[in-house]
Order: sequence, then C-alpha cells, then structure tokens
Amino acid sequence: MSVPSSAVGTAQIGVTGLAVMGRNLARNFARHGYTVALHNRTFARTQSLVAEHAADGTFVPSESMADFVASLARPRKVVIMVQAGAATDAVIDELVPLLEEGDIVVDAGNAHFPDTIRREAALRERGLHFVGTGVSGGEEGALNGPSIMPGGTAESYASLGPILEAISAKVDGVPCCTHVGPDGAGHFVKMVHNGIEYADMQLIAEAYDLLRHGLGASAPEIGEVFAAWNTGDLESYLIEVTAEVLAHTDAATGAPFVDVVADAAEQKGTGRWTVQNGLDLGVPITGIAEATFARALSGSAPQRAAARGVLPADTLEWNVPEPGAFIEDVRLALYASKVVAYSQGFDQIAAASAQYGWDIDRGAMARIWRGGCIIRAKFLDRITQAYERDANLPLLLADPYFTAAVANGVAAWRRIVAAAAVHGVPTPAFSSSLAYYDGVRADRLPANLIQAQRDFFGAHTYRRTDRDGTFHTDWSGDRAEQTW
Ligand code: ATR
Repeated sequence: MSVPSSAVGTAQIGVTGLAVMGRNLARNFARHGYTVALHNRTFARTQSLVAEHAADGTFVPSESMADFVASLARPRKVVIMVQAGAATDAVIDELVPLLEEGDIVVDAGNAHFPDTIRREAALRERGLHFVGTGVSGGEEGALNGPSIMPGGTAESYASLGPILEAISAKVDGVPCCTHVGPDGAGHFVKMVHNGIEYADMQLIAEAYDLLRHGLGASAPEIGEVFAAWNTGDLESYLIEVTAEVLAHTDAATGAPFVDVVADAAEQKGTGRWTVQNGLDLGVPITGIAEATFARALSGSAPQRAAARGVLPADTLEWNVPEPGAFIEDVRLALYASKVVAYSQGFDQIAAASAQYGWDIDRGAMARIWRGGCIIRAKFLDRITQAYERDANLPLLLADPYFTAAVANGVAAWRRIVAAAAVHGVPTPAFSSSLAYYDGVRADRLPANLIQAQRDFFGAHTYRRTDRDGTFHTDWSGDRAEQTW
C-alpha cells in the first residue's frame, strides 16, 4: 500500500512506533486537529489504530517508512516512540536517509541522555534536528495530556513546540510543556523527574509503614489518613493514588490489597541512572539514592532470608498515647523530607545545566510538572514561585517559603526519625533527608577531620580556617607544617 497522492505532504506530524504510548500520542495529536502520519514496523498495529480510532481525527497510515515520510509536510516532524536503546537507533537509521535538511526527529522514548547527546550530534551533522523529549504520564497521560520535556535546538522548538504544547496537560490554562534546553536536556530532566518520583514514593511508603507499626492501623485506615492529607499541603497525584490503593480490597482473599502484594519493588532503571549521574556530578541526591537502594534491598531475597529472625533488634515496644498527634508528626516529617528530596533533585538539574551548558530554567521545570506527570502536585507551584523570586537560588530549602514550611515541622521530623530508630522501622529516606538537612545547615562539618586524615596518610594537603593557602604537615617527620 502506498500513500494516495492526495495525502502526500499533508500530515503535520508523524508517529512511528504504535505500541500503547505511541498509539495514544498519535490519537492525542489527531484529537487536537492535526493530520497524523502513522507508521509501525508491524503494519497490523497501524491498521488496528486507524480501524479503532478513526473518530479521533485524520490519520494517514503507511506501511513503508518511505511512504510515511512522503506523507509528511515539510519541515517534517517525526515522533519516534519505540523502546530506548537499540530499537531507537534502528528506527533512526531507517528514517534518516529519507529525510531532508531542516526536518525534525523527535525521540519521545525514555532514552538515557548521553545517547540523546550522541544522536543529536550525529543528526545535526546531516542538517537534521534531533529532539530528545521526555514524556511523563504513562498511557493515560499520552492520550489525555502528558507533561512534555523537549530538548534540542530552540529553532526546532519554534515549529514543534506549539504542537507539543497543544497536546500537553494544562494547569490554569498553562501548557505542561516548554523547551528545556539543547541536546540531551529534555531526557535529562525526565530522568531526574523519575528519580524524584522514586524518592516521593519511598517517603510515602515509609509514612505508611510508620502508621502501620506505630498505630497498628489497617491498610484501609491508613488510606483514610492519606485521603485526608490529600486535602492539604501534600495534595498530589501520588498521595491520591496511595489512598486509593490502600482502600482497595483483594477480590480473591477479601484482605486489604496491599497485604497480599509481595514486598519486592522493581525498577526500569531511570532511578539508577539518576543516582549514577548524581555521583558523577558530585550532587548529594540522598533521597533518590536511598529510594533506589530501598527498592534493591526489598528485592534482595537471599540477604533478607539470611537476616530475617536472626539479626538482633533490641527495639522498644510502640506505645502511642495520642494517635492524632503521631499522625500529624508523620505528615510533617513526610512534607519536610519531600522538600529535601525535591531540593536535591533541583540541585542536580542546576549542576547538570552548568556542566553541559544547558541553561535550564528550574522554575519552568516545576511548572511543567504541575500536570500530566506522576509527581504532579500543588507543591510544584511553590517551587516555581521560589525560582521566580530568585532564578539562581542556590538551595531550594533556603527559599523563605520552604524554610518556613520546614521550620514548622522540624521538631516533628526529629521525633519521627528518632521513633523509627528506637522501634526498628526502616526509614532510609526520612532519616537521610534529616541528616542532609542537618548537614547542609551545619556551621561546621567533621570534614575537617577527614581532610586531616587524608593529609596524614596520603599527603593530600589541607586548607586552614585562619589564612589562605594550601598546607601539608610532615606527619612522619617532625610534624612541622609546610606551605604547598
Ligand atoms: P509494548 O509497549 O506493547 O510492549 P514493545 O514491544 O515495547 O510494545 O514495542 C514498542 C514499539 O517499538 C512497537 O511499535 C514495536 O514495533 P512492532 O509493533 O513491530 O513490534 C517497536 N519496535 C521495537 N523494536 C523495533 C525495531 N527494531 N524497529 C522498529 N520498531 C521497533
């Protein structure tokens, strides 16, 4: 089958890769009035999309990549929605020889940002634009409005941006899509979004675990607590989902659903990438790292089997005389920990932006995460406002709004982390967030001792508090100080 001549050059956007995400993005474009060229390696998927969803708008299906390209208006805009990695490279290799200067290739998959940097450079050499684009919101978001994070050139955004903004989620009429920055910036920001999502989910899970142990509460009872929290500062999609999941009853057993779900959390790898990059850039993203490691620990079956019932606990018995006060303490600890996790994630974006020359507007990132994506929340408005007050804010936690918000909860946060420790409830994200908070606000850290040790065994030198310069003490000799 080839494209009818009347359809040549008519499609405003094309999608290749019509599995669930690609299919829903294509339908979303069509519903917004765009003529959408369709292609998939296996033509049956293309045919079924047209057969089932013709009512969404105008589709131009093609069996061959050449026909697909021919059906697009210039400059052509092709969205690739296949698995990250080899499949993306295979599609690019097939597509690129058919394109002409100025055409725009959009990778909307979950690519690792170094791959996006590589592909952008390769396509730029051929006069093509390559736009690595983060898309968040899953299947539902792809169809009804995702959060979209496009990288690539400003020039490509000028023609592509309006189409992406049209299909994105809207909050207060503002699209959840903006140009993030050059080459890999879009996929980078999507990666950090996912890392923050890991941290947020871990914090919520720790809050649930504390309520379960501290109050002996059932899953549905805790679900009610989360539903109540969703009406305040914590209002977010993830809290809403938590309340719903906790309220759900397993049809097979009649037990609370979460009680029959195995306690081993999986991951697809974006959390791992985020942590690896945090290490590369030297940014302490402890909340995201603890969340990623907590998933790994949950899945460490042999280690858990070897430890269960064997490692001494020596914990105190829970005795919570005022459940209402305890619930409020957990809420405040959750909120404060969440502020830390987001602050760390935005630090990582700032560090990467400086390192890779991306010039990312952090306030705009918070703005496009307010809708469509998994971490969507009212809270993100506060982050946007903080960066509007100071675009170069060195630490989100130090913005007056967040400083005040944490001040209100810091005593509760300490009570909860202390209670978790003496009662033996693992709270890696709550605890590490508090440790980060105390570390970053400290007048003086014990790093003085570490640097002195390094000088002792490795002559790594040190600086002094009382005068400029670099020094070394002759530890193995007369211990006289030398200036280096
Ligand atoms: P699902 O999301 O349903 O699990 P998938 O196996 O992840 O689907 O595949 C996602 C998309 O990538 C599909 O459109 C797939 O094409 P097919 O329908 O022909 O399987 C596409 N895809 C995967 N590898 C590809 C490749 N090497 N070249 C072109 N398209 C590819």
